[in-house]
Amino acid sequence: METTLIILKPDAVQRGLSGRIISRFEDKGLQVVGMKLMQISQQLAATHYEAHKAKPFYAGLVKFMTSSPVVVLAVRGNGAIGIARNMMGATFGSKANPGTIRGDFGVSNSFNLIHGSDSPEAAERELKLFFQAGEVLNWNRAQEGWVYDMSGGKPE
Ligand code: RTP
Ligand code: MG
Repeated sequence: METTLIILKPDAVQRGLSGRIISRFEDKGLQVVGMKLMQISQQLAATHYEAHKAKPFYAGLVKFMTSSPVVVLAVRGNGAIGIARNMMGATFGSKANPGTIRGDFGVSNSFNLIHGSDSPEAAERELKLFFQAGEVLNWNRAQEGWVYDMSGGKPE
């Protein structure tokens, strides 16, 4: 099972889309194992997006991410990192396909609603940045046996 970090960015929260976006992950069968509303500090935004430090959009990106509260989620499932990235759609709202979160809820290239970790290494690093020990819960989902075929001993 993989766990990925999802951030519902300030535009998603301000536009009242948090519930609908979270529902998409729940509907898919992914499990929410961490969730909180928070205001991202300059320091945290800078660390989170440090790979983009030299890019022309970096300053605007940090300003946007710290401008208003976000919802951060830890989302778990078999292949959750790739599944969530596919559900998010292409980076720019103007290019993202219909059926994806960015494709269905936005048109902007900067205000693109959602972040998702893009690799297992990124997920491990980012989950530690946004969640303290004990904030990601390993809870048993009652419907688990109907979300995955467990007859072979592992989730299929
Ligand atoms: P994210 O990290 O937020 O999940 O988005 P992503 O992987 O799809 O895109 P990434 O290349 O990591 O870029 C991070 C965020 O920077 C903004 N961006 N602006 N103006 C531009 O050319 C540009 N490119 C990227 C977007 O907000 C993007 O989500
Ligand atoms: Mg990225």
